[in-house]
Amino acid sequence: MWTPPKKFWGDSINTPLSTSTASPRPALGLASGKLILAGEHSVVYDRPAIALPFTRLNARARISSIDGPSRVSSGYYEGTLDDAPDILSGMVDCIRATVKAVGHPGEHLMIQVDSTIPTGRGLGSSAAVAASAVRGIAAYYGAVLSHEEEMDLVRIAEVHAHGTPSGIDAEAVVSTGPFRFVKDRPVTPLQVGRAMHLVVADSGLRGNTRAAVEGVRCRFEKERAATETHLDQLAAVVDDVQRALREGDAELLGLSMNVAQRELSAICVSDSALDSLIVEALQAGALGAKITGSGLGGCIVALAPDAESVAPLASALRSAGAQETWPVVVHERNVEEAQ
Ligand code: PMV
Repeated sequence: MWTPPKKFWGDSINTPLSTSTASPRPALGLASGKLILAGEHSVVYDRPAIALPFTRLNARARISSIDGPSRVSSGYYEGTLDDAPDILSGMVDCIRATVKAVGHPGEHLMIQVDSTIPTGRGLGSSAAVAASAVRGIAAYYGAVLSHEEEMDLVRIAEVHAHGTPSGIDAEAVVSTGPFRFVKDRPVTPLQVGRAMHLVVADSGLRGNTRAAVEGVRCRFEKERAATETHLDQLAAVVDDVQRALREGDAELLGLSMNVAQRELSAICVSDSALDSLIVEALQAGALGAKITGSGLGGCIVALAPDAESVAPLASALRSAGAQETWPVVVHERNVEEAQ
């Protein structure tokens, strides 16, 4: 696994502004994966949510100069920006907007993107890839982007990927620790009284954020009152999760995750593969378990009672069919985990 040297974090926002000449030296931009602990889907309806960076997984963009037209190299495509396939159109628009924002024509760039974040699993792959390119391009030109500018640029790619993103993914992939998020408002970093030990398990099935969000929208329009009640319950869970983190109360955190899962099931964003991983996690001693991200494929997150229980819980989840598991420790600054 590629582990970022400390200096690459926030490179683009720490470098002095100089937009007059292109840097002859390659630059790197980095962003991490993300986990939503509470409030997925309800966050789209202006309720709060809690997310954190998932620093074991990350995306990095290496920007260098080449002769000829600008090119992209990624797992999906290798070729000129102009000829990139439709699936990358969000990314291409994001790159073009970024070079414009930093005041350059953006010619003769080689944009090489590598990511360890599996796609379609609710772990923030699309936002992280976009954020790494935005940061890399800004760093390459020695430009300073404000946080809001960075978010607006990532949002260009996210709109292509998700339709109507709340913006939580974009915030999470450049965050340094858990935070409370409400759409269109500045994030609030959260206190963590005691480290919490999570296990993320991948069902191996791809989710589709846009379809899951549209499904909830359909339900919201058809059964407004009932859906509002579920969204309010999900918002109440967010307050409980925030308190549980602050007070270091693992029992309350687990309980809240279970309540969140009940509500997420009620709005039909869980599925049988995720449900069976959740049942397995609880049987193996997890204090709580829920989907993370948009669901209908993707991952679950389970809370282990303590650090010692993480390995057996992960192993039980793998025996139950999880394609991959990752431990995640929640503390106030999750970025340090990767360094
Ligand atoms: O990218 P995903 O699959 O983790 O979904 C993001 C969370 C949602 O609340 C489902 C959508 C959004 O835009 O907030």
